[in-house]
Amino acid sequence: MLIIGDHTFSKDEIYSNAPSAEPERQLYFCSCVKEIVKARFESDCASGEALLRYGSEQLQKMTEAGAFATFHIETYGCQMNAKDSEKLGGLLIRSGFMEVDTEAADFVLYNTCTVRENANLKVYGHLGYVHSLKKKRPSMLVGLCGCMMQEAEEVEKIRTSYRFVDIIFGTHNIYKLAELLFDRLATGRMEVDVWEGTSEIVEDLPADRKYSFKSGVNIMFGCNNFCSYCIVPYVRGRERSRDPEDIVAEIRRLASEGVKEVMLLGQNVNSYGKALGSPISFAQLLRRVEAIDGIERIRFMTSHPKDLSDELIQVMKDSEKICRHLHLPVQSGSTRILEKMNRRYTKEQYLSLVDRIRAAIPDISLTTDIIVGFPGETEEDFQDTLDVVRRVRYDSAFTFIYSKRSGTPAASMEGQVPETVVKDRFDRLLREVQQIAAEVCCRDVHTVQSVLVEEKNTHMDGYVTGRMSNNTLVHFPGTEDLIGSIVNVYLEESKGFYYMGHREG
Ligand code: SAH
Ligand code: SF4
Ligand code: F3S
Repeated sequence: MLIIGDHTFSKDEIYSNAPSAEPERQLYFCSCVKEIVKARFESDCASGEALLRYGSEQLQKMTEAGAFATFHIETYGCQMNAKDSEKLGGLLIRSGFMEVDTEAADFVLYNTCTVRENANLKVYGHLGYVHSLKKKRPSMLVGLCGCMMQEAEEVEKIRTSYRFVDIIFGTHNIYKLAELLFDRLATGRMEVDVWEGTSEIVEDLPADRKYSFKSGVNIMFGCNNFCSYCIVPYVRGRERSRDPEDIVAEIRRLASEGVKEVMLLGQNVNSYGKALGSPISFAQLLRRVEAIDGIERIRFMTSHPKDLSDELIQVMKDSEKICRHLHLPVQSGSTRILEKMNRRYTKEQYLSLVDRIRAAIPDISLTTDIIVGFPGETEEDFQDTLDVVRRVRYDSAFTFIYSKRSGTPAASMEGQVPETVVKDRFDRLLREVQQIAAEVCCRDVHTVQSVLVEEKNTHMDGYVTGRMSNNTLVHFPGTEDLIGSIVNVYLEESKGFYYMGHREG
């Protein structure tokens, strides 16, 4: 039974009154969940239980925010997951929850990643901890969502060995969080709802944005590339692009709320829009975003080298707003390995692409992802990777040890490389990458750069931290009121991967 205003509703009535269109249906379930947590909160307040649970300071914050319970989301993985967590947080706030920075919350949600095995292991570590919390407070709710939940074996393991988990859902139905929570609260049973795929994109969900001045914006979901080592296409489904009108409308709204920098998100932004009813290229989309007043910086992630067009290079060159940074994952420098990885470019094609980009935009900063120890990788292949690193001279590189993901073609390839060999290559690669990055990153010292101030410096009192167009961090004296503004900073000293500076003008 649920009492809303003067009326009492049964569970069945609540379902039959639910709108069928989205996101209206979810907003309706948000208000139902809110009524349930509110009723519990009010009785806990009356009995003094709430004061014991939250303490007076937290209780006051909740009252001021009109919240009746707390939530915490632990997010793993990439920017896509970070963006999903903002949407999940937005739904929870609408459902009467307030965010706290600890797993000792009324609802803890783990938004998981499964791209490498250690991402999975981290989640199981946290589950052990949250179980101990839940033993002390059985009313607490624990949820799991995200990429790892798209794997049937993982869900089965949790169903059988982690019975204290309350809800499990995947990557395709995050917008249904409130409905799933309602089901769980109404039935008391573990709620498992994982979809194999979807063609639907639910627009206009509320989001609890982490920063007031910058925001990620999904432009597409899923991936069609099937790089042979990668699990993402299996857990995120086929590529789907959002309608450009929806993207532009969202960015206009963000700009009107004070957002200055947007990061356009997709697993392979360069193939954006190709399958839409009225096809549009990523470069054309960027031109439309560039025209939005109030947006001063545009970033995007990730670019697959095989689809990076000359049109895109031209748009970046002409642009006042697109940041001077390109993340261009190479994965390996060996053409033989790239072929086995199904990357669909050769070492020479990659290097010539880098040359074209640098010729057009000389001040661009390039970063990359590299995998070492892919099945069959020989010392000669690895030398090709080092060669690419030395020739391109990346500003930074994310280096990964190959992780076998079951179900991917690479998992059953011959010639898995022994751990000691991989570790040795990884260390050599890291040394090379770091040495080059330290040399490259100081190139702007003694110049004035525009910097978007992001936060108060946590280590140095009276300092703030901001980001240059090319993504390098700068620390300089300043006060909190600068956060969210773009200021000119003189770069006094390079510290390898960041600068110390002072405000100019
Ligand atoms: N769509 C992006 C990458 C997403 S995954 C792109 O294509 O660039 C982020 C990075 O994780 C990849 O670039 C790759 O370097 C790494 N990665 C993916 N699967 C991996 C695996 N099985 N083992 C090790 N690293 C992996
Ligand atoms: Fe994975 Fe390749 Fe798709 Fe990137 S492009 S998500 S590496 S399959
Ligand atoms: Fe991980 Fe999923 Fe992103 S597997 S890297 S969170 S798309």
